[in-house]
Amino acid sequence: MTVRLRHFAPYDLQAALEIERASFPEPWSPAMFLGELRRSDRIWLVAEHAGGRVVGYGGVMIVGDEAHLMNLAVAAGERGSGVGRALYDELAARAARAGARRITLEVRDDNGAAVEFYRGAGLEVEGVRPGYYRSGTDALIMWGDLPEAVHHLPASGTEVVLAIETSCDETAAAVMRGGTEVLSSVVASQVDFHSRFGGVVPEIASRKHVEAIVGVVTEALDRAGLTLAHVDAIAVTHGPGLIGALVVGLAYAKGLALATGLPLVGVNHLEGHIFANMLIDPDITPPLIALVVSGGHTSLIHVPEWGVYHTLGETLDDAAGEAFDKVAKVLGLGYPGGPILSKLAAEGDPEAIAFPRAMMRSGDYRFSLSGLKTAVINHIRHEREAGREIDLPDLAASFQAAVVDVQVAKTLRAAEEHGVKTVCLAGGVAANPSLRESLRSALAEKGIALSVPDIGLCTDNAAMIAAAGTWRLRRGDLLGLDAEAVADLRLD
Ligand code: KG4
Ligand code: ZN
Repeated sequence: MTVRLRHFAPYDLQAALEIERASFPEPWSPAMFLGELRRSDRIWLVAEHAGGRVVGYGGVMIVGDEAHLMNLAVAAGERGSGVGRALYDELAARAARAGARRITLEVRDDNGAAVEFYRGAGLEVEGVRPGYYRSGTDALIMWGDLPEAVHHLPASGTEVVLAIETSCDETAAAVMRGGTEVLSSVVASQVDFHSRFGGVVPEIASRKHVEAIVGVVTEALDRAGLTLAHVDAIAVTHGPGLIGALVVGLAYAKGLALATGLPLVGVNHLEGHIFANMLIDPDITPPLIALVVSGGHTSLIHVPEWGVYHTLGETLDDAAGEAFDKVAKVLGLGYPGGPILSKLAAEGDPEAIAFPRAMMRSGDYRFSLSGLKTAVINHIRHEREAGREIDLPDLAASFQAAVVDVQVAKTLRAAEEHGVKTVCLAGGVAANPSLRESLRSALAEKGIALSVPDIGLCTDNAAMIAAAGTWRLRRGDLLGLDAEAVADLRLD
């Protein structure tokens, strides 16, 4: 009969205790097991028969380049069937991937079968701890090298991460392997429910996330052809965003982590947007400047190395995407305004109307967009009162040019001042063709490369959360099950 190896979850405790008590004269207590399962420097697995019966388990502790086998046991009727070896091999492989080079364990001097078992796996007795067990029995200390083949696997590179994103009005889930390979990415947009209000209604967003999340996560796994048993970690956006919306994704992710025993990784939504660039070019390396422009943010960020973020400046009022949305709303064009206005702008004259370029010469990296928004609204009123027809393409093109000009000028200056050779554009507004093109040509003149995500990965999605989540997972940056959503979570 074949067995399946998966993470040891708290609900496996009862089955494990039965095997433990039947296997050892001094069995572990429930508290000892639970204390182990909670820790992020441990790897615990169970072996399960096709029918769902747990027939073995084992766990290792990782200490630097050493793996300590804490426990390994197989149900009496299953010994000699290869279950123990399968558990041992998988623990050893995972320990090697976590950076361990050697493995050690203690075994009772009077447990000849176990000593033979570990010899068979390549370990040797290298010492004795006299009277180590309560009964007075000696412990043999065994050591072994982790298998070469396993050892040479990339430190990480095949881990499967399930990511969940619910910070605003898209319910999204994605499955990713090895940090860059998108196995599936599902986005359920709520736009239809918000568009008649001209913007996101937080109350509706939370409710729609609750309705959609189970289906979206299930579909992401289905499309990837995987089940939760193949997943190595769960990543989730825990801020910034609408608090009621974030809470839905985080609570669901915590539930999954608790039920499966999988590690949970928290991702900052803005870091996710920046990591969307890694899906185009996994070799992007800091130092770099990131311009994050979305419905909620307009920020210039200096990234000296991955994970270190210095915000150089932000918007003092409206975000870039918000300005697009508000102008579209005044014109009665619907929500979100960005895609609608940028399509119109492509047909218009960007110099038709002279709108202000706020903060263009402020000498810092701060932005202000509410003045521009007001100027556009005043222009519309003025034209309507004068009984003139508004030329929508010209208006959209002129408004867009005013936004783009300031973004380009400040980004260029930030890149030059910090001497970086790479700029990453990120966030929903990064989908704007004019911004992409203007920024690319301005930077190219100075020999600076621009990275932009595929259009579909600029707006909110979970593939970007999986990319950032995998990177955090590799650093061992885990979230506790008591973590809370943070509406104004900062990057720096
Ligand atoms: O990143 P995102 O999906 O959600 C937030 O994190 O806010 O960004 C959504 C924003 C909306 O304001 C939308 O109007 C804007 O991105 N957007 C665009 C374009 N496509 C989306 N803005 C300008 N031009 C576009 N083509
Ligand atoms: Zn976003």
